[in-house]
Order: sequence, then C-alpha cells, then structure tokens
Amino acid sequence: MDDHVLIWEMGPRDGLQNEAAQIPTEQKVALVNKLSATGLRRIEVTSFVSPRWVPQMADAAQVFAAINRRPGVVYSALTPNMQGFEAALSSGVGEVAIFASASEAFSSKNINCSITESMARFQPVLGRAHDMRMPVRAYVSCAIDCPYDGPVVPANVAKVTRQLLDMGCYEVSLADTIGSGQPDRVHSMLDAVLDVAEARTLALHFHDTQGRAIDNVAAGLERGIRIFDAAVGGLGGCPYAPGAKGNVATETVVDWLHSHGLSTGTDLDLLREAGRFANDLRKPT
Ligand code: HMG
Ligand code: MG
Repeated sequence: MDDHVLIWEMGPRDGLQNEAAQIPTEQKVALVNKLSATGLRRIEVTSFVSPRWVPQMADAAQVFAAINRRPGVVYSALTPNMQGFEAALSSGVGEVAIFASASEAFSSKNINCSITESMARFQPVLGRAHDMRMPVRAYVSCAIDCPYDGPVVPANVAKVTRQLLDMGCYEVSLADTIGSGQPDRVHSMLDAVLDVAEARTLALHFHDTQGRAIDNVAAGLERGIRIFDAAVGGLGGCPYAPGAKGNVATETVVDWLHSHGLSTGTDLDLLREAGRFANDLRKPT
C-alpha cells in the first residue's frame, strides 16, 4: 500500500479554468472521457462557481451531464458555497471540494471573503454533505506563498487544515498556488501540518512555476504523503493568482513515480495522449 500513489487529476478544472478563450463544452467532455480511460481514479471535472468570476467554468452542469462515468472513478467539482453545492447536486455530482486559503489576501481575492467567513460558508455545505454521506475534499491555497502577501507562516496552514478536517473534510490538499515552493519550504510547512494531521488525510497540489514540483513531490513522499494533484499536459493556473503556471503535469509525475518503483494504476501512454489533447484545446483556433 505504501508503494501506491493516488493521483487527483486536475486538468479539466484547474487546467482549463484559466483559459481566456471559451473551450467548447464537448471538448471538455472529450478530455474527461479520455482521462477516464487512463486508469485515473479521481478526476476533478469542473467548478460550480460564479460565471462572472470564472467564465470558463460556466458550463459545469452541461459538462457533468455529458461525461461518461466509469465505475470506480470519482468525478468531483469545486463548490465555494451552498449555491454551488446545490447546483452540483442537481447535476448528480458524487463528491465535491471546498477551497480555503491560509492567506487572508488570497481568500479575499479568490472567494471574496475572509478565512473565517469562508469557514462559515463551508459549514452548511459540510452539514448537508454529511447528511447525504457525500465525501468532501478541501484545499488550502497559499500553503507556501501568497501572490499578494508573500511567505505564509506554516502554523497558519496547519490551523486552516485542522479546521477543515474538524469540520468533516476527509482529505485536505495543501496547495502551492503560485508554484514558488522548494523542498526545504515544503518540509517546513509539513513539519507544522503533520503535527496536527495524519499524512493519510493530506494531499499535495503543486503548481510548477519554477520547475521544482517533482522535487517537492519527492519531499512529500519522504514525509509519508501518497496523494498528489496533477494536471495532464501541465495545464493550469488560477485567475486570482497572477503569475502562477500550470499544475505539475500528470505524465511527468506518473513517469517519475513509476521509475522510482511506485505504482499509480495509470497508463502513461494514455496520459500522454490526453495531455496532448488537453494542450491542443488551448491553441487558438
Ligand atoms: P460573491 O460575489 O461574493 O458572491 O462571490 P455572492 O454570494 O455575493 O453572489 C453574487 C452573485 O454571484 C450572485 O449573482 C450569485 O447568484 C452568484 P447575481 O445575483 O449578482 O447575478 N453566485 C454564484 N453563481 C454561480 N455559482 C455559485 C455562486 N455563488 C454566488 N456558486 C464567490 C463569491 C465564491 C461566488 C466568487 O468569489 C467565486 O465564484 N469565486 C470562485 C473563484 C474561483 O473559482 N477560483 C479558482 C478556483 S480555486 C483555485 O484554483 C485554487 C486551487 O487550485 C488550489 C490552489 O492551487 O491554490 C483549488
Ligand atoms: Mg491550483
């Protein structure tokens, strides 16, 4: 079990959300269907967020209605509040993710509220999900640096992580939102978080702005983490995190993991093919 790594595929959501030109819904659906065939077990499909904030995700319901859902694969969506959660339910979403921040400035820019207010918004989502026995994942953005406020104190990351777990999230993904992390800083952050949470409840989400994401994955593995977020083709970025590049490419992570004797249950050739398809979606037509 320790040699198995679970990959959370971010391509259709984090990967595409930052694209300025609207990508046709059927192309998004085709990407999700391709990803479903690669052996991935976790795919974040879209976001039920305000279309004024993130226009690219405005077709969340249509995407969910059209994808082929493979048994054994979790198809998830971001939901920032009850409105998004209700919309996700209407679309038959089986799992959702909420997203908080360890930095006040990013919380305000990304979801228009303070960290404390965001927790209050998440509470009813978690209450309703709990009643329905729906699993809820969470993110902590700015686990390393904030695009507005600079370095983030590891204790703040630990505090928000613990809160999200106490509220009922089954897993918290610690995000290097702007991809500025390096292994020593990942270790310092994990020193604090692992004091309050078990490694099996944590995932790592690296954007790869400085080309250190694989080194950071290695640091996470050293600390017992076995869940990593990645996006095929290295797509991604957050519209509210200026300068952030894409998530580390799924193909790169899987290739590296396999060559280091770890298993992922995914087919590298099919992932590479999906990565090429995803990158073609970004090209101007
Ligand atoms: P707000 O303006 O404060 O919301 O935005 P509000 O509750 O005041 O409502 C204002 C309007 O938005 C209303 O419409 C609502 O109906 C609508 P109006 O009456 O004016 O026409 N609205 C919604 N519409 C659709 N779906 C909803 C929804 N909620 C309200 N769920 C809000 C607050 C959270 C909605 C907004 O700030 C937002 O949508 N933010 C999302 C930003 C986002 O998606 N960022 C990228 C994802 S996070 C990320 O990439 C980081 C991550 O990858 C980890 C990492 O790398 O760090 C996860
Ligand atoms: Mg991200």
